Amino acid sequence: MFDKYNIYCRIDMLIINLEGDIMNDIKDVVEQIKNRCDIVSLISEYIQVIKTGNTYKALCPFHQEKTPSFHISETKQMCKCFGCGEGGDAISFIMKIENLNFIDAVKFLANKYSIEFNNKFDEKTREKIKKAKIYENIHLEAARFYFANIKNSKAYNYLVSRGIEVKTIKKFGIGYSLDEWHSLKNYILSLGYSTDDLESCGLFIKKIGTENIYDKFRDRIMFPIFDYRGTVIGFGGRVLNNDTKPKYLNSPDSLIFNKSKNLYGLNLARQEIKNDTLILVEGYMDLISVYQSGIKNVVATLGTSLTNEQAVLIKRFANNVIISYDSDEAGTKATLRAIDILKKQDINIKILELLDCKDPDDYIKKYGKKSYENQIENSKHYVQYQIDILMKKYNLENHEQNINFVKECIKIIKGIKSNVEIDYYVNYLSKISNRSIEAIKKDIYGNYYREYKKQNYKVEKKTEVIDSSKIKNYAEKSIIKMIIEEKSLRNSIIDKVSINDIFLDESKEILKYIIKNKELDKIDIEKNKLFDISQDYIKDLKNITYDTENIDNLINIMKKNTSHMRMLSIKNKYKFDF
Ligand code: CTP
Ligand code: MN
Repeated sequence: MFDKYNIYCRIDMLIINLEGDIMNDIKDVVEQIKNRCDIVSLISEYIQVIKTGNTYKALCPFHQEKTPSFHISETKQMCKCFGCGEGGDAISFIMKIENLNFIDAVKFLANKYSIEFNNKFDEKTREKIKKAKIYENIHLEAARFYFANIKNSKAYNYLVSRGIEVKTIKKFGIGYSLDEWHSLKNYILSLGYSTDDLESCGLFIKKIGTENIYDKFRDRIMFPIFDYRGTVIGFGGRVLNNDTKPKYLNSPDSLIFNKSKNLYGLNLARQEIKNDTLILVEGYMDLISVYQSGIKNVVATLGTSLTNEQAVLIKRFANNVIISYDSDEAGTKATLRAIDILKKQDINIKILELLDCKDPDDYIKKYGKKSYENQIENSKHYVQYQIDILMKKYNLENHEQNINFVKECIKIIKGIKSNVEIDYYVNYLSKISNRSIEAIKKDIYGNYYREYKKQNYKVEKKTEVIDSSKIKNYAEKSIIKMIIEEKSLRNSIIDKVSINDIFLDESKEILKYIIKNKELDKIDIEKNKLFDISQDYIKDLKNITYDTENIDNLINIMKKNTSHMRMLSIKNKYKFDF
């Protein structure tokens, strides 16, 4: 999950902003750490490591388990847990176990192995790091100040009137900025910070052409914005009435804050991820309401449309996202944009529907937690959502509109990776539009489909759809992928499949291996030297998204495909004409 020094997605604001500079300066230190540190002994300082044959194993320190699936490779100087997927090199291990960001982990190891660290940075970079640290401290002090102000304030009454409980105010550190021009400024100065420090940290405004600095946030409810580690990096301030504009005022981007690379609430949600899923909402109040109700795996984009960086950040923590944006037109538009962005990260997307409510906050207040959970449970597949939106735009009774509708839907279906899902939506679209499945498929698969049909007109229909994807033997590879990844399904699949049902030698090898090693949590076929799997095969496996609901169907397709391919190969061998 976190190999390479992909600090770009470490999302430590400091690191992101300083990325270029730091990487050059730090490369050397990383190199020296690699020379001196042995990952096996390093990890042994934290957990008990057992040597079996040539590999080292341990109980994974990053998730609960009874049998060791945390593997450490001495030759590669890497570790990986085949249970939870966590892994990487020595630096990644330290980041995770000591809860440090990349730079601090490097510092930690440099210190441990007596490698010079501080003098590595050039003057400019060191200045920036120092400044960022000061900004972080000022933000922390500001958060304390605002929080101290909320007691007995009108902001407190406002929050109570909106159903926010005291424990929630504390959890999120919600505060109040006084209706004064210099209160925060004076407080921060009294702590010993200089006017210089205040100027570009984001909390103050300098009157143009003067030396006069004043508080940016006045008479607002203050929501501290945390990065994923819990460091305060900015604020959102809401007015106490609905007339003053803007309703929300946010910190500007700064050395420590970058709105488009951060997600509100992630510091809390990351500890509460359920079913590998995060719920995505728009606003502060939505997030806080949903969280307060007890549904805690929720993050907010804070009004802006979701960015690619945020999607990358989400993918680090969850593979499934339920979008729960506002129900108005802007929310719908933002949902459609978010779908496109999340799709690029291979995230499974569902959409939650708010019925007659305007936003999640509204919904929770009106219908309560149970009902919202029900909506989570019943959230729509994103393709269904997109088709439903189109359906409202077109009159399907009208011939021309019907055709345009189908064309639009086909564009959507073409974007689906899983063939099983494509199959489902082709059938669905055919039903609602009254167009033939055949015609829809032709439009989806284009020339490839025509070519395929010419050569294999005898092939069974189902196999056609599956093989029409560019992945050969799709069903077989899906089954193999499931056996590799889904320990809980392994036995039931193995019961239904024999080696003779498998066509590819590579699949056979993997199946045989798994039958012998059923107990492994996850099997890394790429790194496993026991059998020889081609890069193409591995690539195909990576590209497959399977649907565990559809196992029986896939097994049938696989069996048919195997017997069909056997026939073809016999035919070629003996030049028979069937
Ligand atoms: N937002 C913003 N600036 C604004 C309006 C909105 O930054 N002028 C952001 C805020 O992060 C806000 C989110 O967009 O939380 C959603 O906006 P909206 O739906 O208007 O607000 P709510 O979250 O519903 O806030 P409230 O319930 O307090 O009215
Ligand atoms: Mn709202």
